[in-house]
Amino acid sequence: MSGIFVRKPLDSLLAEAHQEGEHTLRRALNVTNLVALGIGAIIGAGIFVLTGSAAAQYAGPAIVLSFVLAGFGCVFAGLCYAEFASMIPIAGSAYTYGYATLGELFAWIIGWDLILEYAFGAATVASGWSANVFQFLQRIGISLPPQFAATPGTKLVLFEGLWRPSGTLGAEAAAKGINLATLPQATGSFNIIAFLAICLVTLVLVIGIKESATLNTIIVFIKVGTVLVFIAVAASYLIAHPDVAMKNWHPFIPQNLGEFGKFGYSGIGRGAAVIFFAYIGFDAVSTAAQEAKNPQKDMPMGILGSLAICTVLYIVTAGLLTGVTSYTTLNVAAPVAVGMAATGVRWGEYLVLIGSILGLSTVMLVMLLGQSRVFYSMSRDGLLPAWAGKVHPRFRTPYVSSITVGIFVAIFASLIPIGILGELVSIGTLLAFVIVCAGVWILRRNQPDIARPFKTPMVPFVPIMGILVSLYLMASLPFDTWLRLIIWLIIGLGIYFGYGRHHSKVRLALKKN
Ligand code: ALA
Repeated sequence: MSGIFVRKPLDSLLAEAHQEGEHTLRRALNVTNLVALGIGAIIGAGIFVLTGSAAAQYAGPAIVLSFVLAGFGCVFAGLCYAEFASMIPIAGSAYTYGYATLGELFAWIIGWDLILEYAFGAATVASGWSANVFQFLQRIGISLPPQFAATPGTKLVLFEGLWRPSGTLGAEAAAKGINLATLPQATGSFNIIAFLAICLVTLVLVIGIKESATLNTIIVFIKVGTVLVFIAVAASYLIAHPDVAMKNWHPFIPQNLGEFGKFGYSGIGRGAAVIFFAYIGFDAVSTAAQEAKNPQKDMPMGILGSLAICTVLYIVTAGLLTGVTSYTTLNVAAPVAVGMAATGVRWGEYLVLIGSILGLSTVMLVMLLGQSRVFYSMSRDGLLPAWAGKVHPRFRTPYVSSITVGIFVAIFASLIPIGILGELVSIGTLLAFVIVCAGVWILRRNQPDIARPFKTPMVPFVPIMGILVSLYLMASLPFDTWLRLIIWLIIGLGIYFGYGRHHSKVRLALKKN
């Protein structure tokens, strides 16, 4: 067991951060690219899909408060990420910070855990993306066999001319007096749309960081534009119809239905745990640290700037959405489009659909980018085989790791149901937040004199709050998700003790000395 808690010395990390040359990643990203990467990863299925079901099932109009609560938790964690990312600008992100502060075993655990955030995150979003694309194609008259647009076992029904998952239709069908059992049925077998989406995004990532970042920046403008158009349309509508807002916002916190988490104050907490997914991604900026031109200065801007912009957009969007339409109508796959429809702006519905399809594609892009960079770092440290760290001499991207990740994620996305994936992503990310916050606090105590270009304010208050809010949100996830997390970590430990421990460069160097 000797040396499993060995720490990676900070001077060797800093030397690594400054390496240049053909076999290193290309430093091509400026501060705008970094903020755009953050927004690219953050705005996605969370706001475009989950807000509606969380408002309808748990919080009602008080979903705004859920966004504020989850936003607070993320700001605490974001401040801690910003300190690390400017101090140790290495592609491994939380994995590397764990290596420097808590030792190799924890670093491995966190690296393995990040697969849940990035790889499973990309798979979750691919699944949501496929649902949107499938809807869009059907609306414009292109029909695909429904069994190839859903994961195995998903029940679909032909409802008002569109194939939709029957699980989401209960209330709508009941309200319209339609018996779903009488409609044509199909069962998903392989989600080919999600599979192809991941393959395409992987291709872009292999070609180059500059190309990936440029594509991301363009799409981010479109998706932020879409959200702003919704805000403008909904706000003008409510100014003209204040009575609608008063009716829909009242009661602001619907009475609890007798069950924990179903409206009332506990519903705000449950809503926060669900829409926490909407904030995931700001930390992915830190995995681009070795590709940033000026990481010390720009990393904190990338992380905190993107988080701040998205927090404001989310709170305003959620408030307006529950103002233009009753929260009870929002348990649908495209709630923002429903909000648009309520204002009577027909073109707006299509705009939202297109904006969310484009928007979700950058979430996949940045998540896959993050995953390949974490593997790159783990491989450089010897904890994963050397092929995972191979950099393409022309493209200067970790192409082997990008392609391997892409293949696995494409398979997960086409086979695993979105609900299971999404909860795993949340718990995995929250665990990473806990370790990063703890790491900032520990390093402040152990090595107070290292140069910190960005300092988290109010240490230890901010890290402690980050840890507490993350643990609270983890605690509100179902027991099954915890079980899956534990099984996942046990598999990871098996790999570490079978491979990583024997190949770790830091441990080998320790033995030599
Ligand atoms: N925050 C990202 C999304 O909402 C993961 O899709």
